[in-house]
Amino acid sequence: LYRSFGYDRTNSMGVNLANDQQLHSLADQVNAAIKDWRAAPLVPGANAGGPDIAVTNPADRRETVGQWRAADSATVELALKNAVAAQEAWDATPAASRAAILEHAAQLLEDRMPQYLALCTKEAGKTIPDGVAEVREAVDFLRYYGAQARKLFAPEALPGPTGESNTLHLSGRGVFVCISPWNFPLAIFLGQVSAALAAGNSVIAKPAEQTNLIGYYAVKLLHEAGVPEAVLQFLPGDGATVGAALTRDPRVAGVAFTGSTDTARAINRALAARDAAIGVLIAETGGQNALIADSSSLPEQLVKDAIGSAFTSAGQRCSAARVLFVQDDIADKVVQMLAGAMAELKVGDPGLLSTDVGPVIDADALKMLDDHAARMDKEASKIAEVALDADAAHGSYFAPRAYALKSLDQLTKEVFGPVLHVIRWKADQLDAVIDAINATGYGLTLGIHSRIDETIERISARVKVGNCYVNRNQIGAVVGVQPFGGQNLSGTGPKAGGPHYLPRFTTEKTITVNT
Ligand code: NAD
Ligand code: ALA
Repeated sequence: LYRSFGYDRTNSMGVNLANDQQLHSLADQVNAAIKDWRAAPLVPGANAGGPDIAVTNPADRRETVGQWRAADSATVELALKNAVAAQEAWDATPAASRAAILEHAAQLLEDRMPQYLALCTKEAGKTIPDGVAEVREAVDFLRYYGAQARKLFAPEALPGPTGESNTLHLSGRGVFVCISPWNFPLAIFLGQVSAALAAGNSVIAKPAEQTNLIGYYAVKLLHEAGVPEAVLQFLPGDGATVGAALTRDPRVAGVAFTGSTDTARAINRALAARDAAIGVLIAETGGQNALIADSSSLPEQLVKDAIGSAFTSAGQRCSAARVLFVQDDIADKVVQMLAGAMAELKVGDPGLLSTDVGPVIDADALKMLDDHAARMDKEASKIAEVALDADAAHGSYFAPRAYALKSLDQLTKEVFGPVLHVIRWKADQLDAVIDAINATGYGLTLGIHSRIDETIERISARVKVGNCYVNRNQIGAVVGVQPFGGQNLSGTGPKAGGPHYLPRFTTEKTITVNT
């Protein structure tokens, strides 16, 4: 068990990470990657953007991996004008042709996996297995929304009286703004963009400030695959300036947003305040995700899944487990095994296949985690803290740790990093545990470990979450297989990678003809 994290498992793509020669070759290519990437606004007719801003490697801030330039206000305005002008023709392009372009992009991305993997590692600090999963998920989104568009856009004949024909037609809403986070800089970025494009919208994509290079090269790929440059524009810049300017603009029909709950609220307010048609907001936000384990669970499997769910991607997944509720009968054993397994985790250079946990994204993230750890050191009891080596000081590394808490009230907000909190519960407290989880207001993922069907059914029926995972880890939803997204503070729905996502990007028209 203790050596199993990341290595003896077969990942969601069926790749055995220990033995796969292709993965070793990919790792070599990542480490040999040329580091002179450059990103700038991709807006037809625009100036070149502001001054160069250096992009440094989260694993070692002494290493510059590229440069990016922010869009100024004139470029934002031009992008909006271009997007409005280009939308009608794109909407009139048959859905099958739009889908074919997305499928072509998926193929290009697969063919160039090493380059995109290198970008994910060098700009976002992703480990190689994480980067592979990221590229794979992006490919899946391109193909899935392409396939959905082919089905969805076939006009539907409706029943009607003799002498009348009724058909329902879907079309794009207009200009869609896609605003994405840094933690899935390729998969979520391309997921949002490909859905909006598949549905016939023109798109302005604003990446997270931390991952402009990845967004830029993703947009270049879609242009190469055949998306017209005015139909998909790339607008890097600050959320508070570029993002806010886009979301308050009356020409924008909808926003696909993934990020923090606070930002989703700000965007919702901006859309509502406009003197314009009521804009659509699709928001996927944060979580305070729990894992409930009862005394029938298998400790070895529980610890493996808790570790995988809490520390994969350095805990920087919205789906990650933050709180393990463990029944007191098995708690001592589980806590001991958890500490033992954590001692085996290797934190370090994400370019090495021996690394389990890479850096966190930047100094702000590190500070937030350091502040949380300082509070926990006073208010909770530490179960384990993974050792960092001396080189960690050059990057934004945070030592994964676990704390024993008395109650969920000790956590006031999402802790976005590799920290697991453990709370014990007694047999008569299961409903109280569920109530406490629901009372956080978040509702993204939940893990259940139990061998008792009645307990599994009781928890999964009562808990208000979007994705519930039983006797396995609770991260890594697969496109089209585990549609992903939360409830309440965790998002508006519909779920990404699910059948109801694409229709939200469309508008419907019923045409009735007296024949
Ligand atoms: P964030 O909210 O700080 O930023 C997300 C994006 O919003 C960035 O592109 C940013 O520039 C932009 N932005 C910021 N302020 C804005 C404004 N006023 N108007 C318009 N855009 C603005 O989030 P983050 O730190 O990049 O990402 C981490 C968060 O994302 C976590 O809370 C995590 O749980 C959540 N997340 C959720 C999901 C999901 O599917 N539910 C997936 C990944 C991440
Ligand atoms: N879709 C991502 C996961 O399931 C966030 O981990």
